[in-house]
Amino acid sequence: MENITKICCIGAGYVGGPTMAMIAKKCPHIQVTVVDLNEARIKAWNDEDVNNIPVYEPGLSDVVAEARGRNLFFSTEVDKAIDEAQMIFISVNTPTKTYGAGKGQAADLKWIELCARQIANISKDNKIIVEKSTLPVRTASAIKDILTHTGNGVQFQILSNPEFLAEGTAVEDLDAPDRVLIGGDNTPEGKVAVQALVDIYANWVPKERILTTNVWSSELSKLTANAFLAQRVSSINSLTEICEQTEADINEVAKAIGTDSRIGPKFLKASVGFGGSCFQKDILNLVYIARSYGLQEVADYWEQVIIMNDHQKRRFANQIIKNLYNTVNGKKIAFFGWAFKKDTNDTRESAAIYVADHLLNEQAHISVYDPKVPENQVYADLDYLNTREAEENKAGVQVITDPYEACKGSHAIAVLTEWDEFKGYDWQRIYDNMLKPAKIFDGRNLLDADKLRAIGFQVRSIGTNVLDK
Ligand SMILES: NC(=O)c1ccc[n+]([C@@H]2O[C@H](COP(=O)([O-])OP(=O)(O)OC[C@H]3O[C@@H](n4cnc5c(N)ncnc54)[C@H](O)[C@@H]3O)[C@@H](O)[C@H]2O)c1
Repeated sequence: MENITKICCIGAGYVGGPTMAMIAKKCPHIQVTVVDLNEARIKAWNDEDVNNIPVYEPGLSDVVAEARGRNLFFSTEVDKAIDEAQMIFISVNTPTKTYGAGKGQAADLKWIELCARQIANISKDNKIIVEKSTLPVRTASAIKDILTHTGNGVQFQILSNPEFLAEGTAVEDLDAPDRVLIGGDNTPEGKVAVQALVDIYANWVPKERILTTNVWSSELSKLTANAFLAQRVSSINSLTEICEQTEADINEVAKAIGTDSRIGPKFLKASVGFGGSCFQKDILNLVYIARSYGLQEVADYWEQVIIMNDHQKRRFANQIIKNLYNTVNGKKIAFFGWAFKKDTNDTRESAAIYVADHLLNEQAHISVYDPKVPENQVYADLDYLNTREAEENKAGVQVITDPYEACKGSHAIAVLTEWDEFKGYDWQRIYDNMLKPAKIFDGRNLLDADKLRAIGFQVRSIGTNVLDK
């Protein structure tokens, strides 16, 4: 294939948007068109004010501002973009199935298949198809099957190029990735396609960081990477419970083990549990794949990571209830944070949703403050669980845009997201306006507990056994 000058990406979400913006920034000679069926999303990507783009990521607005209109375009004209592109990235959502066989575990590949069929229908010349979405191992063979049975003689090469960016640091991660992984066929045509994608990344990524493998290794590596990361979180979280029983302190334990170079210090922060759209979905998918090959022990091993995470979220909610004298009925509890982690507006699978749901079952009143999450998203997240009527969620939860208002008159504050700004608040002012005893449940071990105790708060940080001294 000749040099790539036109790329299209199907899916303008948290991955498609930032990834393509970075390619456009680094490769001004390539025209990059990101398409999506969701008109509102595309409209937001095209908003004159780049601060209104639909994905919040530090530094992303600047990248978009530089490339948009030059060689970066956002559009709803999916067919046209497919037709014109030499290389097509598929970056659509692959959520856990909510129906039928594999319900609650397998990845729903409906959107992937729709893309493949659309590409098959539209294409008039040879194209390279790149799986950017996270997919079960061997999905490329299904895509290939659909693409090669159109009878129109068009040749397709399928590559796997999973995305390893982390939300909240997407721009940094894309600018200087630990590695870029590209899987392709070991045929002469496959090698040419792999090289075409290597050449794109080589515009800014050092060659030794661009790894090439066969397609299946690449697909499986992405599921494996997420499973390992989530496993570390569940491992440290499992020890918080032991710390709380034994006067060990999880922060000290994490530091002590993290200095071992074989273990390393990252991803050892205890918390209320991991969230986000990927970890749970990808592990469940791995579990499903293992089960479908009859590998029961392997499936059980990885499933435990999810079981531990669910336990941690429930445990946090139960601690709040227990410490509020076994009832939260009618009590106001302020939530600091709703996003699944700091520096993102993404709330998918956020621990906050599940903790809120549990507390609402106990008839608590929750007031939520998050610097980036709008009111309608909070209600949409709770409604999605289907635990109670939408009106009941509205009655039980208030979303407040001022953190001091959010905790005025509350019995307790629960820290659910590790936003830096929480640390800098006027905690004396917050204390003065709360009911006493004023309690803080720090689900991220973010705040300086000793300072808060000096003000008069009773503080419970995850993995330490002190509520008050
Ligand atoms: N979010 C992350 O941090 C992350 C990181 C690495 C990999 N991934 C993977 O990347 C994929 C995308 O994730 P995301 O977070 O960007 O999802 P997302 O839901 O934010 O975006 C997907 C977009 O695809 C669009 N879409 C779906 N079907 C379409 C079609 N047929 N034509 C046009 N547009 C269509 C949807 O409207 C949506 O806007 C998933 O497989 C995910 O597992 C996500």
